[in-house]
Amino acid sequence: MKQLIDRLYETHSLSREELKALLEGRTKELAEYLFEKAREVRICRYDHDVYIRGLIEFTNYCKNDCYYCGIRKSNKNAQRYRLTKEDILTCCKEGYALGFRTFVLQGGEDAYFNDERMVDIIRSIKAAYQDCAITLSIGERSHESYQRMYDAGANRFLLRHETADEEHYGKLHPKNMRLSERKACLYDLKNIGYQVGCGFMTGSPYQTTDTIVEDLLFIQELSPHMVGIGPFIPHHDTPFKDMQGGTLELTLFLLGIVRLMLPDVLLPATTALGTIDEQGREKGILAGCNVVMPNLSPTAVRSKYMLYDNKICTGDEAAECRFCMQKRMEGIGYRVAVSRGDHLSLQ
Ligand code: SAM
Ligand code: FES
Repeated sequence: MKQLIDRLYETHSLSREELKALLEGRTKELAEYLFEKAREVRICRYDHDVYIRGLIEFTNYCKNDCYYCGIRKSNKNAQRYRLTKEDILTCCKEGYALGFRTFVLQGGEDAYFNDERMVDIIRSIKAAYQDCAITLSIGERSHESYQRMYDAGANRFLLRHETADEEHYGKLHPKNMRLSERKACLYDLKNIGYQVGCGFMTGSPYQTTDTIVEDLLFIQELSPHMVGIGPFIPHHDTPFKDMQGGTLELTLFLLGIVRLMLPDVLLPATTALGTIDEQGREKGILAGCNVVMPNLSPTAVRSKYMLYDNKICTGDEAAECRFCMQKRMEGIGYRVAVSRGDHLSLQ
């Protein structure tokens, strides 16, 4: 099995059969070997820098009904909110003072935030903070819409593909959502010029080794700038409330594989990882991650952006999260970088 890791380290790709064998043959010892290699690659490319992104969860209205998600439209218990442009700019101001040079605008698919409103928000942030990058994470839109937001100044886009297996995709989403659409959006975004991120949840209901292999092959093919991988965590007001969540062990293993597959990738140690294990984000960094995304949303709305149960940091001020993260990273010998933290191909 170690030879497979060595090969991935050298060639950055493995076949379907090899990926399956690696996943099925994983042990604690093999994982340690993988993480050592992943750290070596990560440190060679990004030294001990950890890039921080200020996450602004600006709306929890969503027209979609993904079976796993706490802000799905059928969840009548979710208290809905939208931030105003002024609220968002206040978050950016606070974030800038704390050293954030990337703002991530994340939300449900909310028709209120049409192209005109998004362009206005993006332009206003760019005008005030010219040295900052804007990342959008607002779901599927038309090519024209992506283009308009890019022209207004958006730099990056996160759109997890969720699963690269058609049948599995159909078990996680209602019929009106299609994997082919999601993939087409990712290629659109890439062609327009965004730094693009795809990704998936580990341990999502009905996930199998084969579907994970499909995810890894898709990542190999798309070759995105960013990959978001975090554990599925059940939410009590969704159809998946009684399903099992994803494990720390599998999530870390996949993060290590992705680091070797895409050596320059921007790889976040996610909030979900920090939710299932108190040291989850630190362990993510030690498995090859190089990004963390502390929350910049106003405290008043934090507990309303509940994608899953027990989400951490919902009661903390932005500054608390920022400095908590710094301490955590320093605790394992890494340092938070005050920079845009672009993909190496763009630095
Ligand atoms: N609406 C945008 C989209 O669909 O890309 C962005 C927001 S969406 C809530 C962000 C991500 O949260 C999803 O891509 C999904 O992978 C993750 N997520 C949703 N529910 C989750 C859960 N129960 N556990 C872990 N992650 C979850
Ligand atoms: Fe939010 Fe530690 S990152 S309190």
